This record gives sequence, structure tokens and C-alpha cells, in this order.
Amino acid sequence: MNAVTRTAPIALIAAMVLGCARPPDQQARRTYKIGFSQCTVKEPWRVLFNELLRREADKHPEVQLEIQDADDMTQKQVADVKSFIVRNFDAILISPKEAPGLTGAVREATEKGIPVVVLDRDVNYKDYACFVGGDNLEIGREAGRFAVHALGGAGKAKGIIYEICGGLASTPAQERRDGFHEIVDKEPAIQVLGKLDGDWKLNKGHDILQDALKSIPTIHLVYAHNDPMAYGAWQAAQKAGREKEMMFIGIDAIPTEGALWVKQGKLSATFLYEPPGAEGLRQALKILKDGKPDAKRITLKTRTITADTVDAYLKDMGR
Ligand code: FRU
Repeated sequence: MNAVTRTAPIALIAAMVLGCARPPDQQARRTYKIGFSQCTVKEPWRVLFNELLRREADKHPEVQLEIQDADDMTQKQVADVKSFIVRNFDAILISPKEAPGLTGAVREATEKGIPVVVLDRDVNYKDYACFVGGDNLEIGREAGRFAVHALGGAGKAKGIIYEICGGLASTPAQERRDGFHEIVDKEPAIQVLGKLDGDWKLNKGHDILQDALKSIPTIHLVYAHNDPMAYGAWQAAQKAGREKEMMFIGIDAIPTEGALWVKQGKLSATFLYEPPGAEGLRQALKILKDGKPDAKRITLKTRTITADTVDAYLKDMGR
């Protein structure tokens, strides 16, 4: 046997083990097990996120997608990721509940050679394969610009803002807070109160503002880090007969929530935060097939939705 015929089968076997250089008929049958660890489905934004991800997966017959819901529990989410690792999934998508608690699981999967695509909320370890999400710092700034404009304009703005934060161990809440303050803190006559952690939940937004209304005689604008909390706050103000006294702004702009509430005149503005699942799956497939994503960090676009722009926005969203 000459060197070529001796080495060829070994090279072929090695290539087949690695999943490349398969004969075309076998290549077509290659399937990819992709696990998605979702932190919760208690909010409609996450339900939409899963739906868009499933719709994208349906376009790729080679993908076997498994979605696990951590039900808002960090420990369950760690266990879900570990289960994907021990069951030899080809790639893992994760939208972490919070950064510190999920950093270890993302590191472990990456160090075991499984590409991880982190979605929407980041972790503290950055050597994963890819991140897909919105620019929360810029969204926070945009919300700040809206607030300054609504309260009288740069240099003249005046009033009391009540801020309701998302889960403060998560990067979107930290960035939506920091971006907002970058803008509003330049205004000496604006005061920002509150800043409590509402864990992204409508009922917590409601309870936080209900309490605040008891001791704060005037609020000009409520800034909540997502639409459900902004709407919960609006409901609390309405119960107290004070919803006309203040403006409410949130983030997400899904057609059945934030955008609808803007259309109904309950929120003054919301900012689009695109669910990243479909793009995350496309990037996972790029990594599995081409060895790398389009970019290490993929930023999804935002858009400001107010009474003036909501109809055009809803039309663009097919509503
Ligand atoms: C849903 C959610 C969204 C928010 C995002 C931030 O769980 O709270 O409303 O934009 O997570 O990570």
C-alpha cells in the first residue's frame, strides 16, 4: 500500500468524525442538536422570542432544537446548560437570567468545546462564540433624550423622574440605567427617584409605583426598564387617579404590549428591543458549518415608538 492509499482512509475517517468531508448524501443527513436555555417565559417578550426562534429552526431541517425554560431560577438554568453539555449538544444558545450566576455554565460549555451563543443578557466571561442582542446603553440614552425633551429640552428640562429598574444583576438593566443617567444627569433641574429592582415584572412595577405614590406628591415621568413594568406602574397610577399627572416610558415595543399601550395613550414612548433568537440560531449554524459567526458581537437595531410613529411601526410589523 502506498502512502496515499494508506493515509487516505485515516484522513477520511478523521474528517468524518469532525463532521466535514462527508460524501454529499451523508452530508445532507447531518443533524445538529441545538439546546436553548431560556431564563423564563413569564413575560410575553420571551414567549415571542421562543416563537421566532422555533420559526427559524423550522426553516432548517438539519436542526433539532430543544428549549428549556429555567422559570426565573438561576440554579435551574445552570442545570439546563449542564444537561445540554452532558448530552453532547452541538451548540448551546442561552439567554441568562443574570450575569454572575450563569458565567460558570457558559465558561464550562465553551471550555468543553461546545460553541455558545449568548442572547440578550451578557455574562462576565467573554470567550464564548458569539453574542446577539440590542445595544442597551444606547437604548437607555435614547430613553434619556426622550425624557429630557419631554421635560422641557436640553438645558431647560425640569421635573421628577421615577425610575423602575429591571433585574439589576443583568446587563440590560445596568446598561439601560447607565445610558439613561448619562443623559438626564446633565440636567440640574431633573431629579431621579426610585431606582428599585422590579425584576422585569409587571406586578412588581405596579407595587413599586403604588408605594412611591404614597410618599411622593408629584412625579412627572416614570421610566421603567421594560414595558410590562411601565404598564404595571401606569395601572397603579390609574388606581390612584394620578395617571394623567405623569408620563410613562418603557422598552421592548412588542406589538401586543408596549406598542399597543403607546397607541392607547397609556405609554408616551417605548423603544424596540428585538428578540434575538432567530439571529442567534443563524449564527450557531454559521459556527457549526463555517467555523465562525458573522461577527463575535451582533447588535440588533432599535427604534423609538411614540404616538406619532406607532401606526407606521405596527404596519411595518405586519399588524
Ligand atoms: C423579558 C425581558 C424584556 C427585557 C429583557 C431584558 O424577560 O424582561 O422585557 O427587554 O428581558 O433582558
